[in-house]
Parts: sequence; C-alpha cells; structure tokens
Amino acid sequence: MESPDADVAGSRMDRDTQLALLDRVQAHRTAGRGTDAVSEVHRQPVDAYTSVERMDREQTLLNHAPTIAGLSDILPQPGTYAAVTVGTAPVVLTRDADGQVRAFLNVCRHRGAEITTGCGAAAMLTCPYHGWTYHFDGSLAARRRPAYFEGEADDGLVALPTLEQHGLIWVSADPTASIPAEPLQGAEQDLRELGLADHRLFTSTTFTRPINWKLVIDTFLEVYHVGVLHKATIDPLIHSDFALFDAFGSNGRMVVTRRSISDLDTLPRTEWPFFPHTTIVWALQPNTILIYQQDHAQLYQSRPGAHPGESIITVSVYVPRDTTRSDEHWQKNFDLLVEVTDSEDFVTCAGIQRGFESGAQEHITFGTNEPLLAHYERELTNLLVADD
Ligand code: FES
Repeated sequence: MESPDADVAGSRMDRDTQLALLDRVQAHRTAGRGTDAVSEVHRQPVDAYTSVERMDREQTLLNHAPTIAGLSDILPQPGTYAAVTVGTAPVVLTRDADGQVRAFLNVCRHRGAEITTGCGAAAMLTCPYHGWTYHFDGSLAARRRPAYFEGEADDGLVALPTLEQHGLIWVSADPTASIPAEPLQGAEQDLRELGLADHRLFTSTTFTRPINWKLVIDTFLEVYHVGVLHKATIDPLIHSDFALFDAFGSNGRMVVTRRSISDLDTLPRTEWPFFPHTTIVWALQPNTILIYQQDHAQLYQSRPGAHPGESIITVSVYVPRDTTRSDEHWQKNFDLLVEVTDSEDFVTCAGIQRGFESGAQEHITFGTNEPLLAHYERELTNLLVADD
C-alpha cells in the first residue's frame, strides 16, 4: 500500500522507546517465540454482537463517553467548524479566534434544525432554516426579524465537553459529562511524539456495512489473520507474528512487524530505524482505531447502525503537512486501503455476523496470541458495567 521510498517518520517517537520495542521484536525473532501472548484464552459471548439490549447499552455509553472526533486538523485554523456525529447526537465543533476548540449540540435553539453540515471556514454559524446566527463560542449572534421574538431568552447552542491534546480531539455528546485530563491513560508521550498535530486530513469516507460495529474494531486488533485472509495483499508486507502488545489503561497498543524488519540484522542497534519496519495500532476506547503506518495516520471509527448487525464506519487518512508526496499518491493509497479492508476484512466480518445470528455458538475464542483483541473487548465491557 506504499512504495518503498515513501517519506519515513523515523523521528516521530522517543528513541529510547523505539529501541526498547525493537529489542522485544528482535527477541521474538531470535527465540522464535512468535508474538506477545497472554496466559489465557478469552471467551467472548456471541450475544455481544447480536443482542439489542447490549447494543442499547453500548449506544448509551457512546452518547456519554469521551470519544475521538478526529485529529486536530478537522479544525485546521481559527474560524473553522466541522459537523460530526458522536454517539447518536449531531455535534458541531468550532475553533474560535483564539484557537480553542469548542463543541456544541448541532441543534438550533429556534426550531431545532441542524446548524451546519460538513466543514469549512466562516465568520459565524448560520442556521439554514430561518437564518439565526451563532458565534463560534456558541452564543446567539442574531435572530432574523427579532421583533417577532421579543422577550425571549437569547439561548446559545448547548455546549459539550471537549478536549484537544497531542493532536487529537475528544468530545462527549453529554453536556453533563466530563473528559479526564489524560484520556490516553499513560500513552501521552507516544502519541505526542507521533506529531499528529502536524498532520492534515487528506480525505475521509463514511459507509454502512452489515456487521456489528465492534467487528469493525476487532478486525484491526490482531495480525493472526494476515497470513491467510490477506495472503495476496498485506501478507507480503507484514508478519503474522512478532507483534507486541501493551495496555494503557482501557486503551491498548500493538506494534506490528513489517517484513523489512530483517534489515535490522545488518545494522548496529544504535542505528535501528523504527519506521518503516513497524506499524503501530492503537485501540482507543470506545470506538477508535488509530494506525500509524510509516508516514501517515489512518483513523477507523465505528458506531452502531439501526440494529446490532449494522455499523456505520468512517475511514480517514491524515498525512504530514510537509509531505513531499503528491495528492495522487495519497489518493491511490487511500483507495487501496479502503478496497482491501472492505473487500477482505468487512466481507469476512459480514459472514461472521450471519454466523453469529445463526445461533451456531454461544461464544467465540480469542487466542492467547490475540491480546489486544481480548483487552479491548474486556475493557469495553468494563466501561459498560461502570456506565450502567
Ligand atoms: S430552526 Fe434555526 S433558524 Fe429556525
């Protein structure tokens, strides 16, 4: 999915951390131990993917919990806005004149129309129904023909909790919720050093597929399947073994080893490059996968559709602002990325969903070699219990 001479973000991570991770990869390769593993298999109930009651609890969590709206570049400069969906709620994000990110329910205080769709730059937000306007701090700027509303309170947009940190923007769709000061739960340094704030949104697409929203997340959380499902596409680039797992609170990280890792064998340790020989996969609760691959970031986000067997998926690619690559290169990369995940992963997941709904089995099994998958699902269940 990329050419071998692509821009390499070799300095985008603390050097000591890089070498420590590469030591672990090399230990797996030398000992032939395969991959980071946990001591026990995890049994995942099938009804977590088919139950309406479970989906309703998850939807409630997604409506309360801080979730990632995107990288900072969804609001590239002061005076920009972006409409997003958080949980089931329409949300509008703004970056005010001071550069501060704000979030509001995207609901006009006149008769409830969505204030805006898409994204862009503007002096203020103007409701498309009757033309009321709002400042970027959410306050009501003006009503059209105000004499007809004399005596009414000047209610502004309903503010939501939001946080911008290390190039990521979190928002909760619950006005009464709060966002922890450090939602990355110990992974701050790693994410900061990826330089996500210096990446621009290249493109994004959203589509619906007949699979539970968690199957979308699950498919990125292990490399066990790569040598089989992706035999002709990804397997020539990535090992099905030698993956590293680390938990950061309810979040988790997998370092994936690319086949070019053998280049390290001819270099002294101090000269080992981290990229392009690895790919980093972050599972960020509750519904985001962030992949840093050599020279760009991929964001996969999933949420429930109309029923447990339907998901709404958004795929976004962010590239370095100083990339020397052409837009044509990034578009080809994006198209191939979506094609492979859709035609291989999501098609397989659709079969899994049909199998789940057949009642063939009550649980599935995550092997000891799939630790991030087990961690993500276990922690999501814990979040649901805490949210009940
Ligand atoms: S609903 Fe927004 S101006 Fe009427």
